[in-house]
Amino acid sequence: MLKTKVNLGEKSYPIYITKNFSGLGEALKKAVIGGKIVVITDSNVKNIYLEDLISLIKAAGYQVFSYVIEAGEASKNLDTLRNIFNELITLQLDRNSSIIALGGGVTGDVAGFAAASWLRGVNFIQIPTSLLAQVDSSIGGKVAVDFKKIKNIIGAFYQPKLVYINVNTLKTLSEREFRSGLAEIIKHSIIRDKEFFDYLESNIETLLSRDENALLYTIKKSCEIKATVVAADEKEEEERAMLNFGHTIGHAVESISAFNLLHGECVSIGMVGAFKLALKLGITEQSSLNRVTKLLKKIGLPVCVEAFDIGKLYQLMLSDKKARNNKLNFILPRNIGEVIQLEIDNEVIIKEVLNELIR
Ligand SMILES: NC(=O)c1ccc[n+]([C@@H]2O[C@H](COP(=O)([O-])OP(=O)(O)OC[C@H]3O[C@@H](n4cnc5c(N)ncnc54)[C@H](O)[C@@H]3O)[C@@H](O)[C@H]2O)c1
Ligand SMILES: [Zn+2]
Repeated sequence: MLKTKVNLGEKSYPIYITKNFSGLGEALKKAVIGGKIVVITDSNVKNIYLEDLISLIKAAGYQVFSYVIEAGEASKNLDTLRNIFNELITLQLDRNSSIIALGGGVTGDVAGFAAASWLRGVNFIQIPTSLLAQVDSSIGGKVAVDFKKIKNIIGAFYQPKLVYINVNTLKTLSEREFRSGLAEIIKHSIIRDKEFFDYLESNIETLLSRDENALLYTIKKSCEIKATVVAADEKEEEERAMLNFGHTIGHAVESISAFNLLHGECVSIGMVGAFKLALKLGITEQSSLNRVTKLLKKIGLPVCVEAFDIGKLYQLMLSDKKARNNKLNFILPRNIGEVIQLEIDNEVIIKEVLNELIR
């Protein structure tokens, strides 16, 4: 079992990176979790992991219940929350209780927001089972639901008491979801750690075969990078913005594709866009762009898109909540392992880059 930590003073918490669930009971006790536990999961993950997990938590001496939400982004809304709260009333869930999120980022975001708001906050535990959730959404305390088709518009910062990752749950994740999750790992290496990028480049085949040890190492490394960034800036005032590398263009591509592309696939395209922009501005070198593009292609991630309306995409980028005064905020690479933040209002150059992203 590997372990790392998110350092946030009194709100610090451990991240366990393991090969199975056998250490969960002890981890819960170490985090001084008492009272009733409600496991919230989705309709896919339920069929594979819920029963075993419940037996394990029971065996550790807890009273445990479960609640299942429909799998998919469409569940990340206020109706699902209302249903969860109805259940929590029935279960008489008090201040001493805990909510566990067992599943991908959708489950984590919904269950986390329920935990943050129920009785003004009960203990929250993340057991992420998708690759995206294991290296990204379960760490850092951002929880939210969508509203009126706007993603993550109602939410909170609410840190979990612990994150428990069993890398072997990834064995049942679909190939496309798995590859998409790798995009965020590549992102972490590019913003912070060149050696980690070198490792990913050399070991990509092993990783794609979901080798247990390669997963343990890679997920731990990736969690450490996210944890360090979050610890330096919990509420995204400065430092945490670097996690948005690849997301300025990525988010816009995600909405223009009407969510037919997965998040990681859009981030992949967005990272290539950021490198192309950095290259035009003379900040980075062609060789770095080539290396990143090659690795993304090896993973099977897209590095360009089918025809789209560049004007519309640009408008979507401007309407993102992170744009200010018609200036777009970009995280751009200097090298692999080092990024800088830049506000850019040069529409021509940005549109040139968008044009180059079309197949
Ligand atoms: N809170 C944050 O900081 C943060 C960061 C990034 C993304 N997000 C959010 O995360 C969500 C995306 O997360 P996601 O990609 O995990 O999506 P998801 O939760 O929808 O999971 C993807 C699919 O994989 C299935 N699945 C999950 N684990 C599985 C397993 N082990 N075996 C088989 N199937 C499994 C799910 O049922 C689902 O169908 C988005 O809503 C996004 O906004 C949040
Ligand atoms: Zn992302």
